[in-house]
Amino acid sequence: MLQSTMMQTRRQFIRTSLGATAAAVPVKWCRAEEVSPNLKIKLRVCVASDLHYGQKDTPYVKMADDLVGWVNEEKKTKGLDALFLNGDLTNDSSEALLILRDGPLSTLQVPFHTIKGNHDFIDEKPGSPTESWQKIWGYPSNHTVKYGDFVFIMADTSAPRKSDVYLAADLEWLKKELESHKDAPAIFVMIHIPQRKQGVEGWPQHGVHDVEEVGKAEAVMDLLESTGNVRGVFHGHNHDETAAYVSGEKRYFFDSHVGGSWGAKKGYRILEIYEDNRMLTYQMNAEDNIESNRDEIMG
Ligand SMILES: [Fe+2]
Repeated sequence: MLQSTMMQTRRQFIRTSLGATAAAVPVKWCRAEEVSPNLKIKLRVCVASDLHYGQKDTPYVKMADDLVGWVNEEKKTKGLDALFLNGDLTNDSSEALLILRDGPLSTLQVPFHTIKGNHDFIDEKPGSPTESWQKIWGYPSNHTVKYGDFVFIMADTSAPRKSDVYLAADLEWLKKELESHKDAPAIFVMIHIPQRKQGVEGWPQHGVHDVEEVGKAEAVMDLLESTGNVRGVFHGHNHDETAAYVSGEKRYFFDSHVGGSWGAKKGYRILEIYEDNRMLTYQMNAEDNIESNRDEIMG
C-alpha cells in the first residue's frame, strides 16, 4: 500500500518499495478470475462522488457520516490508500464546503482528494474563505497527485457557481499533465462531468450538451484515447450509473453516488492494482454491502 507523494514523510518508502524497474511495467486491466487470492495489492483506492452535502430535504448529515464510515471500514478491513471525491461534494453552497471539510471529512482515516463538481460553488469574493478551490483545499481545481508511480489527474469541468453549466476539461492543461507523466505505468483521470453527449455512441445521460462544449469535450476524449498510459477515466455526476463504458479502447467508469435525492443504490468504486501490475475495479453497493461489475473489464 502506498501513500501520496504529496505526503513528504512517505516519499522514501515509496521509492525503496517500488524501485526504478516498476515504472517501466505497464499496468493492465484483468478479469477477476485471473487474480489469485495470494496476489498482494500494491495500491487500493476508492472513488466516490455526489455527496451533495447541504441539499435541502435530504439526510445529508447521515449520508456524510455513512460515507466516512464506509471508507474508514474499507481502510480497516481491506486496506485503502486514498479516497477521491469526484465532484458535487456539496449542493450550491460555498459555506457547506467548509462545514464538510472541517466536520465529516476531517474524520476520514485515509488521505483524500477533491474534484470540483457543478454543484460545488466557490464564492469568488476576494478575501472570502471560499474564494477559490485552492483556498479551501490547498490545491487548485485542476491538479494531479501521484501514489508511487501511479498518476491521478483531476480535471475541473464546472463553472465557479452555476450548476447547469457542464464544461469540457481544459485541453491544454491536460496535454501538459499527460506529457509530464508520459513514462508513468498508469494514469487515471478523474472528471466529474461525462465528456460525451447523451446518446452519442450509446453514452448515458447527463454528459456535456452545449454545442460548443460537446466539440471541446470530444477533443478531450480524443486526447485521452490517444495517450497510451491513460488506463481509466472516472466520472461522477450521473447518480444512476455504475457501469463502465468503452471508447477508443479506454474505460470510462461511473460510481453511482453517496448522497443527493436521486439515483441507484448509494456506493463507490474500488480500484486495486496488484503486485504484478494487473488491476481491477468494481462497484460497491454500500447500502446492501454487495459488490458488482467486477467482470466488466476484458483483458
Ligand atoms: Fe454533478
